[in-house]
Parts: sequence; structure tokens; C-alpha cells
Amino acid sequence: MELNQRIARIAAHLHPSSTQMSENPILRQSNCRAKGGSPGFKVAILGAAGGIGQPLAMLMKMNPLVSVLHLYDVVNAPGVTADISHMDTGAVRSNLSEMIKMGERLEGMILVYGMDLVVIPAGVPRKPGMTRDDLFNINAGIVKTLCEGIAKCCPNAIVNLISNPVNSTVPIAAEVFKKAGTYDPKKLLGVTMLDVVRANTFVAEVIGLDPREVNVPVVGGHAGVTILPLLSQVKPACSFTPEETEYLTKRIQDGGTEVVQAKAGAGSATLSMAYAAVKFADACLRGLRGDAGIVECAFVASQGWPGESKERVGSKH
Ligand SMILES: NC(=O)c1ccc[n+]([C@@H]2O[C@H](COP(=O)([O-])OP(=O)(O)OC[C@H]3O[C@@H](n4cnc5c(N)ncnc54)[C@H](O)[C@@H]3O)[C@@H](O)[C@H]2O)c1
Repeated sequence: MELNQRIARIAAHLHPSSTQMSENPILRQSNCRAKGGSPGFKVAILGAAGGIGQPLAMLMKMNPLVSVLHLYDVVNAPGVTADISHMDTGAVRSNLSEMIKMGERLEGMILVYGMDLVVIPAGVPRKPGMTRDDLFNINAGIVKTLCEGIAKCCPNAIVNLISNPVNSTVPIAAEVFKKAGTYDPKKLLGVTMLDVVRANTFVAEVIGLDPREVNVPVVGGHAGVTILPLLSQVKPACSFTPEETEYLTKRIQDGGTEVVQAKAGAGSATLSMAYAAVKFADACLRGLRGDAGIVECAFVASQGWPGESKERVGSKH
């Protein structure tokens, strides 16, 4: 049984538009299909022209699970959309840019298409000396507005929220969705994957392994000491000296600040964040497709254990 599941998973990666996808009831819905294109998922990126948004858009355009990619931003979306549209990959880019030029509102744009997944990197990034909390006043308003649009137009979409402070923007989004009567805690996911990606990299350096072979669960939140790498549960199993534990915990918790300081005023992590966001989004899409055993860490509401942030994004067969 397990062998069959493994083969099915591998086949799904190699042939994403194979029968496995077309048999999935989710994919039979007309709103999951590109105009005349291959079956796949519809993904929107809100804040697509930013430092994270642009590489994120590029990587999502390369994802074989994505059939339609909508890019939205308050500035330069037409340019990024035109640029991305020349990539000879499967996903069809949307014509949101033309609609933006015509002054259409976000709700209208999303309404036209319906979304399976909405990724939100919209908002201002940190500068040296700022904490993620310092971003609250600006980004809270941006996230609120965008989530109001999502609640109206694609209430069933999975939302991946990247905008900081994630520890606060996720509760804000939850309140917007509750007010609109569309809240589903399983579909609102604060993206903390960059903490996991960093943890995998830093732990791999210490134990001398390829980072692709390492998996470090990171639970809690996405700011300073709320970032909790579970070094006792690293796979493959390994142990650390107290000095290594202290070094790794601090470096993982301060990873964002390390990049902010190195960029010296030019923003926060963008390329590694885009990579992490696409890794997480891909896990969500594979979960939507029905793949077994998709488990990733995210900042989510949990009724069982306050503070617990490990969420299964795929179905368990
Ligand atoms: N979750 C994480 O691990 C993580 C990591 C790094 C950065 N971030 C956060 O991601 C966010 C984006 O960072 P960045 O470096 O890409 O910033 P950026 O300034 O380069 O890009 C942000 C983009 O959002 C757009 N935008 C602003 N308001 C908008 C709105 N109402 N609708 C649509 N688009 C809008 C801007 O025009 C800009 O293009 C920041 O809040 C940053 O702190 C999160």
C-alpha cells in the first residue's frame, strides 16, 4: 500500500497533468482550468511587483501544477506580467495588467477568475533597526483591504500570507474573514517556511550534510524568540552540543535580521523568501491535488495546543 502511494507521488511529480489530476474532483471544477489549457490550479500573487513578488511570480510560472497565474500590485504589475508572460512554461498569465490599467478593483479581478490559492507578499519590508512589529501600522491596512477582496471574490481559496508581522497579519486576516463569514482556519496559513529553509541550511552546515537531506521542524511564530526550531526532532536524527544548540537557535531566530543588516537599507529577504514561498505554495497545491503525507510548518490557528504551528496541508490517505 505504502509502495503504491510512493509510486503515485513520484508519478504525480513527473506527470503533473496525468490522470491523477484529471480524476480529482477539485480539478473537474471549471474554475480550475485555463482557457483551453491544461488542468491545473489558479494562483494569484498580490504584491507581485515587489522584491519577493517578482521572483515568486517567476518561480510560480515554472510550477507545473499552476495553469493560470494572476499578478496584482498597485505599481508596475503590467510590466512584470508582460515580462513573465514571455516564459515558455505551462502556466498562462492573466490579463490583470490590462484591467489594472483600466482602474478595475481587486475584487473585480479576482471575481472574474476565482482562485485556488492566493499568495500575499504585499507590504513594506524591514529596514535596519526595525522589528517586524514596526511594520504593523502600514501592513495591517494593506492585508485587511486585500483580505476583504478575497472574502468577497474567492472565499474558498487557500491564503498564504507572507506580509509581516506574520504573527499579527494572520489574526487580522482571520478577523476579516470571520466578519465576512468565510473564515476557515485550515485555509489561512501564515508563511513561516523561510524559518524552516534557514534552519535546514544552518543545521546542514553544522552536521556536514546536504541541506536537501535535512528537515528541521520550526514551530511557534515568525518573530525573534517566537521562532522555535525543534532541534531534537531534526531528520535525519542527530544530536547537538549545548554550544551548537545555542548557536543554531540564535542564528535561525535572527536570520531575517542578518539579511536586513547585510542589505543595509535595501529591504529584507526577497530571493530566499520567494524560494521558500514557492516551496510552501507547491506543498499546498499538492495537498489540494490529494497527495498523501504533505506536512509543512506554518503559522496557523490551533484549537488543540495554543502556539502549536505545525499544520498538515495535504490530506492523509
Ligand atoms: N514571512 C516571511 O518570512 C517574510 C520574509 C521576508 C519578508 N516578508 C515580508 O513580505 C513583505 C514584502 O516584502 P518585499 O521585500 O517584497 O517588499 P517590497 O516593498 O519590495 O514589495 C512589496 C510590494 O507590495 C506592493 N503593495 C503595497 N500595497 C499593496 C496593495 N494594497 N495591493 C497590492 N500590492 C501592494 C508594493 O507596490 C510592492 O510592489 C514585507 O511585509 C516583508 O516584511 C516576509
